[in-house]
Amino acid sequence: MAKKPPVKKSRTSKKATSSSSRSSKTRGSGKKLPKKGAKQSAKEKLSNDILRLLKKSPYLQAGVNGSSSKSLEELFKQNLITLKEEKIEIVLSGQYKKAFNLIAEADAGNLYPVLVGPPGIGKTTLCRYYAQARAELTGNNSFEWITFDESTKPAHLIGSFNPAVTIQKGFSFEAFNPGPLLKAMLYGGVFLANEINRATEYTQNSLLEPLEEKTVAVPHLGRIKASPGFFFIGSMNPSELAGTHRLGEALKDRFNVWIELDYPDKKTELEIIEHNNPYFQIDESALEMIYLIIHSTRTHHQVQVPASLRAGIAMARLTGIIKMKEKKADPHSILRTIVPIVLQGAIQPKPGIKIEDVTKNIVSQVIGGGA
Ligand SMILES: Nc1ncnc2c1ncn2[C@@H]1O[C@H](COP(=O)(O)OP(=O)(O)OP(=O)(O)O)[C@@H](O)[C@H]1O
Ligand SMILES: [Mg+2]
Repeated sequence: MAKKPPVKKSRTSKKATSSSSRSSKTRGSGKKLPKKGAKQSAKEKLSNDILRLLKKSPYLQAGVNGSSSKSLEELFKQNLITLKEEKIEIVLSGQYKKAFNLIAEADAGNLYPVLVGPPGIGKTTLCRYYAQARAELTGNNSFEWITFDESTKPAHLIGSFNPAVTIQKGFSFEAFNPGPLLKAMLYGGVFLANEINRATEYTQNSLLEPLEEKTVAVPHLGRIKASPGFFFIGSMNPSELAGTHRLGEALKDRFNVWIELDYPDKKTELEIIEHNNPYFQIDESALEMIYLIIHSTRTHHQVQVPASLRAGIAMARLTGIIKMKEKKADPHSILRTIVPIVLQGAIQPKPGIKIEDVTKNIVSQVIGGGA
């Protein structure tokens, strides 16, 4: 009769029992057991294999004894990113090499490029890498970016006045917080306008002058001209995807170099997956299968938006993590479990089609054995 109500226990009862019986075995190895009646800490409730996994994870361990003891201000200063310090590495082959060269050619010719491609194809990564390469060459580290959406206003690009300081000092430079576009113009740096076709026409129009004249009007303060070197890159998903506005003709006309990116070829995509999975080993055959799954979402007749690079990277990491935890697990059965979990948010089926049906179909086609 003294039994606890089954509410919490029902989902965890099996594991809780097995972990407490395991932890009684570990008494000798130094792990303290809670006294009878005492509450178990969250850590004590973790099963040993999950504990081991978390202790081994380089992502988690990088944060051990790290940030929570510092003040927010200390952390802000410590974590301030500048192009000089933050080095990114990317896979620069296939279409990425061509696109990189085109961006450089546009820059050299004082022209503005725009990268067009489906979500998660590597547009932002490539632009950040270009900005880094340019900074190494010129010594100018200025790189600003913004991701547009419906609510982005010209003031988010150019800047705005701090009301409290404005009351004290009037509309002066001191009271003004410059926005990312104005900063890039003043520093003669790179400005990346991510998802530019998500901006409303009103906001798109505020870009016309900076692009054509390399000048911008700052309310109350005057018109500013860009310093030499100012370079503007746009990026966008193709306009047939939901949530995008058409790029106005006038703005379109100011982009002179159109760079199309699509899903990369097999070799490049596998390189990218491996590059982004540096810690968790997976074998060739699992990697190959991940590619086949990702690729089949891109050719499947019931899929509207297929899996991006991010999905393949996530599958590779999860496969590696589960393999680390369960050394004997067969990669096929691991993939059968994780593919639906990853694809759930990574693809969009055509109207009227259930995502579960598509993933089941892809899993059974590529891996076999039913989902
Ligand atoms: N050339 C590359 N080398 C290594 N990793 C890459 C490369 N391209 C993309 N990635 C990885 O793929 C993921 C998606 O890239 P990114 O965010 O640049 O895509 P995107 O096209 O800007 O997506 P979105 O349209 O959603 O903004 C990131 O995790 C990134 O690290
Ligand atoms: Mg992006």
